[in-house]
Formats: sequence, structure tokens, C-alpha cells
Amino acid sequence: MGRVEDKVAVVTGAANGIGRAVALRLAEEGARLVLGDIDASALQQVAATLAAKGRAPATLVGDVTEEAGANALIAQAVSTHGRIDILVNNVGGNGQGRVWDMDVAEWDRIVRLNLRGMFLCTRAALKTMMRERAGRIVCLSSGAREGTPWTAYYQGGSAYAACKAGVHGFIRNVALEVAEYGIHINAVAPGPIDTDRVGQSLRQLNATVDYSPNRMTPLRRLGLPIEIANAVLYLASDEASYVTGHTLHVTGGR
Ligand SMILES: NC(=O)c1ccc[n+]([C@@H]2O[C@H](COP(=O)([O-])OP(=O)(O)OC[C@H]3O[C@@H](n4cnc5c(N)ncnc54)[C@H](O)[C@@H]3O)[C@@H](O)[C@H]2O)c1
Repeated sequence: MGRVEDKVAVVTGAANGIGRAVALRLAEEGARLVLGDIDASALQQVAATLAAKGRAPATLVGDVTEEAGANALIAQAVSTHGRIDILVNNVGGNGQGRVWDMDVAEWDRIVRLNLRGMFLCTRAALKTMMRERAGRIVCLSSGAREGTPWTAYYQGGSAYAACKAGVHGFIRNVALEVAEYGIHINAVAPGPIDTDRVGQSLRQLNATVDYSPNRMTPLRRLGLPIEIANAVLYLASDEASYVTGHTLHVTGGR
């Protein structure tokens, strides 16, 4: 038996990086997957990888920061499997720019990317989960919620920090709202993770700046996507049966 055997799991932003690692890890532990992303070709590759392991997922290309896209992804899971046991709100991303010259459009883009999709997918999934009186939601926060030296000193990034602190506030409050329905919601806050999208720039910072990811991280290295996926798996599984409203830092000690 896998640790999430036969659970129906929706993962947003599953085509690349951490979301991809989460999808593969949940599948290894027996989940039935419904994967969403805006990157059609990369999503297709993840689906092919899973199909080759006998775990073909349902997939949907769409933008979860739009109400229609978020609702369609959740509806796809319900129409395919009749219910949703696990929702992983993984879509998010950083933005650069010092706070004193950040324009409003960039601020709004970051807030939308990191918070709007999480809210929309959670709202849509809760309708089904509340009916089932069970469910696990895991949201991706970030160590950046406390401010990130290598980002702040060299690039800015306050909108992203505000959003990832917002993820913590969201899961704290929603945990209280849905506890009586047997639904748990938690977050994972990764440190600097060696993904295709940011790995190279993190290594570049390691080679060039004082407040570098490795120097500012007690374990002195970048994290791996699988190390985040393992934390998500734990919070999505019944092993976390007395954990809700918690942000688990997987930051190498920072
Ligand atoms: N990589 C890191 O170092 C790191 C550190 C801390 C937190 N995080 C958080 O982890 C999560 C995943 O990060 P990542 O580095 O793997 O990101 P990534 O950019 O590598 O992957 C994000 C995925 O989401 C998809 N996506 C983007 N916008 C979308 C939208 N509107 N609708 C649907 N799909 C969309 C992208 O196509 C991509 O496949 C994010 O929330 C990020 O903020 C990452």
C-alpha cells in the first residue's frame, strides 16, 4: 500500500519544478492524479512519464488564476473520479524589483500569481471536500515569507515575500473554518530549490554575492525538488492526521 493509495490528488503547476516532483512522488505512493498547468507541452511530458509507469493522470491546460480555469481543473477531477482527496496549490513565482520603484502592474501580477489561484482552487475543491467531510490541502509558501537575503539585498522581491506570508495567514484561517468538516490545510515553505526555473540563478548568486543562498543557509546547499515533494506528501497523507494550519519550513535550517 502506498502512503496515499487511491487518493484523488489535484496538483496545480504540475508541469515543471516542484509541482512536477510532487506529482511524481504522489503517484509513486498510489495517488490518482489530476494535473493542471498553462505549459501544455511540459504537462504532456509529465503525463507521458507517469503513463510509462502505469499511472496516467488526467490533465488540463488552463490558468488557475482565472476563475474559469480553477473551476475547470477541480471539475475535471470530480468528473473523472467523483471526489477530491488532496489539493496541492503549487502555482506561484517570484518577481524582482525594489519596492521603491516597483510599478503597480508588477505588484498585482505577483499577488495574482501567488494568492489568487490558491484561493480559487481551494474554494472550488472545498465544495466537494465538505460534502465528503474529508480532504487535505497543501499550499506552497516560501522561506521568503520572512524576507530572503539574496533576493532582498540584490533584487528586491517584497511582493513575493508579502504573498508567501499571505499563504501562511490563509492556511491558518482556513484551517479554523474547515476543521469541523474533517479537512486539513497546511503549507510547505521551501528554501532555495534547485529547479529548472531558478536553479541557475541561485548557483550564480552562490558564485558571486556575499549574502548567497548557500552562505545564508545552515545546511550550506540548495534544496532539491524531491525534498519539497516529500514534505508535501507527508502533509497530504494520513500520517499528518493531527496537523492543520501549519507551515512546515523546508529551508535547510534558515
Ligand atoms: N524554486 C524555489 O526555489 C522555490 C522556493 C520557495 C517557494 N517556491 C514556490 O514553490 C512553487 C513552485 O515553484 P517552482 O520553482 O517549481 O516554479 P516553476 O516556475 O518551476 O513551476 C511553476 C509551474 O506553474 C505553472 N504555472 C504558472 N502560472 C500558472 C497559472 N496561472 N496557471 C497554471 N499553471 C501555472 C508553470 O507553467 C510551471 O509549470 C511556487 O509557489 C513557488 O513560489 C519555490
